[in-house]
Amino acid sequence: MCGIVAYVGQREALPIIIKGLKRLEYRGYDSAGVALLNSDGLNVYKKKGKVSDLEEHLLDQKNLKSHIGIGHTRWATHGEPNDRNAHPHYSQSENLALIHNGIIENYASIKQDLLNKGYTFNSDTDSEVFIQFIEDIKKNANCTLEEAVRLALHKVVGAYAIVIMSKEDPNLLIAARKGSPLVIGVGENEHFLASDATPIIEYTNQVVYLDDFQIAIIRDNKLQLKNIENVENTPYIHKLEMELEAIEKGGFEHFMLKEIYEQPKSIADCLRGRLDAKSGRVVLGGLRDYMNKFEHADRIVILACGTSWHAGLVAEYLFEEFARVPVEVEYASEFRYRNPVIREGDFVIAISQSGETADTLAAIELAKSKGAIIFGVCNVVGSSIPRATHAGSYTHAGPEIGVASTKAFTAQISVLTMMALMLGHRRGTITESNYMMLLNELEQIPSKVEKALKSAKLIEEISAKFKDARNFLYLGRGYNFPVALEGALKLKEISYIHAEGYPAAEMKHGPIALIDEEMPVVFIATKDSSYEKVVSNIQEVKARKGKVIAVVTEGDHDVKNMVDHVIEIPDTHEAFVPLLSVVPLQLLSYYIAVMRGCNVDQPRNLAKSVTVE
Ligand code: F6R
Repeated sequence: MCGIVAYVGQREALPIIIKGLKRLEYRGYDSAGVALLNSDGLNVYKKKGKVSDLEEHLLDQKNLKSHIGIGHTRWATHGEPNDRNAHPHYSQSENLALIHNGIIENYASIKQDLLNKGYTFNSDTDSEVFIQFIEDIKKNANCTLEEAVRLALHKVVGAYAIVIMSKEDPNLLIAARKGSPLVIGVGENEHFLASDATPIIEYTNQVVYLDDFQIAIIRDNKLQLKNIENVENTPYIHKLEMELEAIEKGGFEHFMLKEIYEQPKSIADCLRGRLDAKSGRVVLGGLRDYMNKFEHADRIVILACGTSWHAGLVAEYLFEEFARVPVEVEYASEFRYRNPVIREGDFVIAISQSGETADTLAAIELAKSKGAIIFGVCNVVGSSIPRATHAGSYTHAGPEIGVASTKAFTAQISVLTMMALMLGHRRGTITESNYMMLLNELEQIPSKVEKALKSAKLIEEISAKFKDARNFLYLGRGYNFPVALEGALKLKEISYIHAEGYPAAEMKHGPIALIDEEMPVVFIATKDSSYEKVVSNIQEVKARKGKVIAVVTEGDHDVKNMVDHVIEIPDTHEAFVPLLSVVPLQLLSYYIAVMRGCNVDQPRNLAKSVTVE
């Protein structure tokens, strides 16, 4: 949550910062601001709304030329979204400016101390307290800014990624992180800082990922890293593999639509080099050192939030069916505040697209403290979760920029499917012939997703009929139950229509009371082991005049004759159906949201990576 961009070097800072903020807008978009330093001093410009509103505001300003600057796009935590609460924030003297991503939990007591000393505040934010606090320490201890930042970091409780600039030192940026991401791009005589690599990739592929409790001092184009105890650390330069096209819309109207259409490729990328159906090999490099623990696990515990949690639910079915190992899927936010039982034989899997979700990170730390081995399934390379886990596999879906997760979900399921098949094979819980057949079928999934996407036009037409509905019900059974949850979540988050996902058989225990001629019900009724039962549930809804949209296996005429609309997907093994059946549901929510005039890529109140709890 919140996007940070900063630049110092030979070029003009403002265009780089604005472009970077637009790339980071998926992290928060309720206000934006920049601070620039030139002969007119250290000036802050900020505006409620999108980065484009800030740009408009900047048109009226003079002398924006600067070779150093910081910028921020906000997702409000403390204080409503308005101009005052937008970042950057000045210190009392206006000699310092700060941008901050995270939450300072003890800000109220620090603020009270500063108020007692006569400080005044221009915003309601914890971030302004942070920079005032740093300035107060600098004044009282009569120390350098670097020292004051270090002393302040010892006192604040919470999460932060910060970048600070100073009027007194036009070639200095100081940054620090704990719990919120910060990447430093190292160019030739220039440095970039950002919440993720997307604003940087255009200029350099050399990056340093700041660690928790590390401070970066960029002075006169030299980068120095120190820990909070003032011990110098050698920067480790990573080479970014990301391509610029991956973070652009590439002719699609929205990132979400582009990402839905990317799924044949993203699933293929995820399987590539790991799955070889001919030789019957599944290789996940990340598992190598922990294979013994994985193979002999008594239980698998999965930690995740939101869509990633739904992928975890699919994995529960996969691991139990193929490897006969019990699985528990936990909301990370609940797990972290219980006193969960973690035993010697448990193998913990944490799933996260962003790799930054605060609750998932905290749940990982708790499980680690109880002696668990944690395996990460993440998409963003170099993010916090892959660094906090013992081992892991990246999903290789490429940057996911639309706030509603689509291609990350199918890539997560692809990794988890490979893990389940590999485990079943090693444990001898699937026969060799079944194993070979399953690997073969899994290899066909990218082309089957391609085929599923061919229904887009039909789904657009169906969407037009239901765009004004006030509620939706999504029902599925077995492997399609988590897909029903995911379909409902997609619709809620981008179209703001209330939707609920249920196991189809649970309908009779309550939700059936909601059914009338106004209620659209989406059934996932593919030809699998619970097909007949789901068909009975469809009849129950039709008997009560509900409007049914059914996702069916191609060639299914029985359901077609029973319901209002059918969307066909290719046939596959029941365990792989979620990879196909979720596609029409993604498209349904997309088209409905577009027709309702919603901002699909940046739905209200949401942010892509939830770095606060
Ligand atoms: C829904 C969505 C969220 C995320 C959740 C976890 O479309 O994107 O529900 O799935 O915030 O995020 P990650 O996977 O980054 O941990």
